[in-house]
Amino acid sequence: MAFVELRKENRLGIVTINRPKALNALNTQVLAELEQTLREIAVDDKIGVIIITGAGEKAFVAGADIVEMQNKSAEAASDFARKGQNIFRLIQDLPQPTIAAVNGFALGGGCELAMACDLRLASENARFGQPEVNLGIIPGFGGTQRLPRLIGRARAMELILTGRTIKAEEALELGLVNKVVPSSELLNEAVELAKTILVKGPEAVRRAKSAVNKGLEIDTNTGCELEATLFGLCFAGKEQKEGMAAFLEKRTANFIQE
Ligand code: CAA
Repeated sequence: MAFVELRKENRLGIVTINRPKALNALNTQVLAELEQTLREIAVDDKIGVIIITGAGEKAFVAGADIVEMQNKSAEAASDFARKGQNIFRLIQDLPQPTIAAVNGFALGGGCELAMACDLRLASENARFGQPEVNLGIIPGFGGTQRLPRLIGRARAMELILTGRTIKAEEALELGLVNKVVPSSELLNEAVELAKTILVKGPEAVRRAKSAVNKGLEIDTNTGCELEATLFGLCFAGKEQKEGMAAFLEKRTANFIQE
């Protein structure tokens, strides 16, 4: 693939958007390659955690491709938005947890891509924003929906209505990112975070992700019922037996049997 690379390191999958000449902007080809990569990951039980990052030091993803969007009709633009939304939905619905390692500009579709992930680490030079109003458009890859859910309505509204770009520190204060790290440490930190998750029970991790993400889209009581079902399923497998036996035997649980 030309623009999207998947590197597998043991049980970790690292996806890199690699189109630095256009600051990794998402055009139709990048989106198609990303979709193919995600579909491959979704059925790969050997991959336990995904990191998504951008190539180069300047940008994570500087948005949807403005050159490609410029002459779109209303209908084609809606289709383009649906395409991006569906692909980002694939990320949200991946069984494996996803970590966005945001290494620079995450604007428009780039911020939306980061928000579709479960966790976000930002380098000190990362910049976030939904600058679409500067272009006479609105966010189209889920930004109007995920940003208020992540940081609250008032703060999301301000960013979306002003198109203001914010630095990593402000993104941390707003709760848009989990942690800010020196640029040189970003990938290492993301890998360390991934490793922390990778030693836990893989099925439990998948169920926890699913319970949180699905629960946020339904009412609390239905979400709790879903939680109870998934909690029960944990007791039907090996992981709960190993995890609880290890606790009682005062040893570290070994969930990964090769
Ligand atoms: N689409 C297409 N090309 C882009 C791009 C984008 N979103 N962002 C940057 N590029 C290209 C530039 O056109 C430039 O190409 P050339 O070298 O051929 O001129 C190259 O990447 C480098 O960019 P700049 O010269 O602009 O770099 P800079 O350091 O001066 O500025 C920047 C960096 C502030 C990120 C600036 O590039 C910028 O504002 N980019 C656009 C950001 C944006 O508006 N994103 C939202 C897009 S709309 C969207 O995403 C809708 C949606 O929700 C789906």
